[in-house]
Amino acid sequence: MKKKLLVTGFGGFVAGSVIAHAKDDWEVHAVDRIDIPEKQNGINYYSLDLLDNEKLTKLFKEINPDAVIHTAALADIDFCQNNQEIAEKVNVGVTKAIADLCGQSGAKMIVCSTDTVFDGKKGMYTEEDSPNPINFYAETKVKAEEIVGALDNSVVTRLSLVMGLPVMGSGNSFLAKTITKLKLGESVKFPANEIRTPVDVITLGSSLVELAENDFTGIIHLSSNTRINRFEMAQQIAEKLGYSKDLIIASDSNAMEGRAPRPNDASLDNSLAKKELNTPMRTLMEGLELTMNFKLEK
Ligand SMILES: NC(=O)c1ccc[n+]([C@@H]2O[C@H](COP(=O)([O-])OP(=O)(O)OC[C@H]3O[C@@H](n4cnc5c(N)ncnc54)[C@H](OP(=O)(O)O)[C@@H]3O)[C@@H](O)[C@H]2O)c1
Repeated sequence: MKKKLLVTGFGGFVAGSVIAHAKDDWEVHAVDRIDIPEKQNGINYYSLDLLDNEKLTKLFKEINPDAVIHTAALADIDFCQNNQEIAEKVNVGVTKAIADLCGQSGAKMIVCSTDTVFDGKKGMYTEEDSPNPINFYAETKVKAEEIVGALDNSVVTRLSLVMGLPVMGSGNSFLAKTITKLKLGESVKFPANEIRTPVDVITLGSSLVELAENDFTGIIHLSSNTRINRFEMAQQIAEKLGYSKDLIIASDSNAMEGRAPRPNDASLDNSLAKKELNTPMRTLMEGLELTMNFKLEK
């Protein structure tokens, strides 16, 4: 009998890849607040607002998962800065509710945190480095990390900027939006001040599912082997895909009015992931190739 995996936020960018990687080996249960998709592909979908604690508890107990990959969140940094109450409820409150349920049942909980828990003054952060959030989104993620980290059977994954095309559904992919604009010959702005280690969504989905299966517990950084600023990243991607790199315009995200502050260098050291996971950590270009060619087997 297959083990049961609960994935939250199935309509999201990361969850689509998680579900694609889990669907053959796990009995997958997937929840989001959007309508369930027409094509089920053997996945058990549920439409539920995770803020509804009563319904969440009932569903969790019915499924009784062996592991949970919690991707659902309010992940827009500026939205969270301007809507702190709801950001706290979703990113901290929902995480706490799921952590409590996992604590009671013994299910392994894997949560998606972010490279932006760091202040960006140092770069190449390891799991030993202390977070120092500089915007509200990151503050909620640090609280979520602490809640999940307090469980015995849990993993806090810190994701670098996620690069790739959505595997299922739509998902919030900067690459998909960029390609649409480049096809039309339109220019696209990318911040040159933000240095990241962008991880492709396929490597990420595979890593998260592996962490649900293996015995690793604790904090782990999931990032590529390429440390690069977002402007140069976009230039390299545009060139590789056959577009003019002149369409990529450099900006400074911390000079734009009304935006939440971003860490400058939030690059992550992925040595631990390389040691603990069978999924290889890749370069930006290897990740690009993987996501452009990934086909979902039905
Ligand atoms: N993408 C990145 O570059 C990146 C980098 C670092 C960390 N992360 C973290 O990785 C995780 C996944 O990111 P992502 O890019 O896949 O985000 P995403 O595309 O925004 O997906 C999140 C999903 O969660 C759903 N959700 C939010 N609140 C919910 C609620 N109350 N009930 C049910 N579903 C709810 C969202 O629905 P709505 O669309 O309706 O809100 C969305 O479908 C997040 O925790 C994010 O913070 C992402």
